[in-house]
Amino acid sequence: AAGTLRGLAPAGTLIGTAVDPRGLNLDPAYPGVLAAEFNAVTAENAMKWRNLEPSPGVYAWAGGDQIVDLARRNGQAVYGHTLVWHNDVPDWVSPDWPAQRLREVLRRHVTAVVAHYRGRVWAWDVVNEVLAEDGSLRDTLWLRKLGPGYVADAFRWARQADPDARLFVNEYGTEGRTAKADALLDLVRRLRADGVPVDGVGFQGHLDAERPPEDVRGNLRRFAALGVRVAVTELDVRVRLPATAEGLRRQAAVYREVLRACLDVAACASVTVWGFTDARSWIPGYHQGYGAACLFDADFRPKPAHAALLDELAAR
Ligand code: G3I
Repeated sequence: AAGTLRGLAPAGTLIGTAVDPRGLNLDPAYPGVLAAEFNAVTAENAMKWRNLEPSPGVYAWAGGDQIVDLARRNGQAVYGHTLVWHNDVPDWVSPDWPAQRLREVLRRHVTAVVAHYRGRVWAWDVVNEVLAEDGSLRDTLWLRKLGPGYVADAFRWARQADPDARLFVNEYGTEGRTAKADALLDLVRRLRADGVPVDGVGFQGHLDAERPPEDVRGNLRRFAALGVRVAVTELDVRVRLPATAEGLRRQAAVYREVLRACLDVAACASVTVWGFTDARSWIPGYHQGYGAACLFDADFRPKPAHAALLDELAAR
C-alpha cells in the first residue's frame, strides 16, 4: 500500500529485512510490519549451518521453513544466508579431519541446503566474509584445510544444486571505495574469469551514522561493470546511545544515501535491512554503547529513517 516501503518500491527492486523468529513468535506487532513493509526476507540465523544441521546428517529445517512459508504467504522473495562461513559451523565439524573428508562434508552441506530450498530462495550468500581486513583471503578453517579453491567449489556445488538461484559473495567493510572493496572487486573478477558462477555481490552495510561510507554509488557501479548483480544485504545504521534527534537525523540521511545509491544502479537488486525494529537488533549486544540502528523503534513506531526512505522512493 502507499506509505509503505514495499508499496513504493520500483519494480525490480526488493526492499527486504532479516527475520528473527523470536519477533515473529513473541512480538504482537512484528508480523504485521514485516508483511506490510517488505517484499523480501532473509533468515537472520535460521539458515546458518549450526542451526540447520545440529548433528551429522540430522537436518533441522523447521526454522528456515517457517520463514520461507511465511514469505510465500506474504508474497516476499527469500534471500538465503549463508552457506559457507567461518562462524556458526556445527561443533561436530572437526578441524582435525583430513582435508578430503572436510571437503566432502562441506560439499554435502551446500548441496543439501540449496537442494532443500530449490525454487523457494532466489539468491544465496554462497560464501560470507571470505576476506580479511587487508583484502587477503581470511585465514579460516576452510582456507587452511582446503586451500583457496574452496570458494570456487562452493559456487559450483550451489549452481549444480539449483541452477536458477543467483549466487552471491557477501562481505562487510566494502560498501564504499575501501582497500577491502578493491580486493573484493579483484576476487570477483578472477573468479568469473575462471568461469566460477558468481552472479552477485552482497554489501552488508553495517554502518555507523557518524562514519558513513564514501561513494557507495560509484562502488556499486564498478562491481556492476563486472556483469554481476549487486545488493545491500544487511543494512543497519548504529548511533551512540542514548539516541538524540540529531543522531536519528544523521541516521536517516545515511539510510537514504544507501537506498539512493542502489536505486541509481540498475544492477542493484535489493536493499535488505538487518532487522527492522530496535526491539530485535544484534547491535547493542555487539557494539557497546551503540544501538537504535533500525527503521522502527522498540515500540514498532517508524523512525525518521523510515520516513527518509519513503521520501526517496516517492521521489522516483
Ligand atoms: O538462540 C540462542 C538462544 O537459545 C541462546 O539462549 C542464546 C545464548 O547462547 O544464543 C541464541 O543464539 C544466538 C543467536 O544470535 C540468536 O540471538 C547466538 O548465540 C548468536 O551467536 C547469534 O548471533 C548472530 C550472529 O550473526 C552470529 O551468527 C546475530 O543474531 C546475527 O545478527 C549476526 O548476523 C551476522 C550475519 O549473519 C553476517 N554478517 C554480520 C552479521 C552481524 O554479526
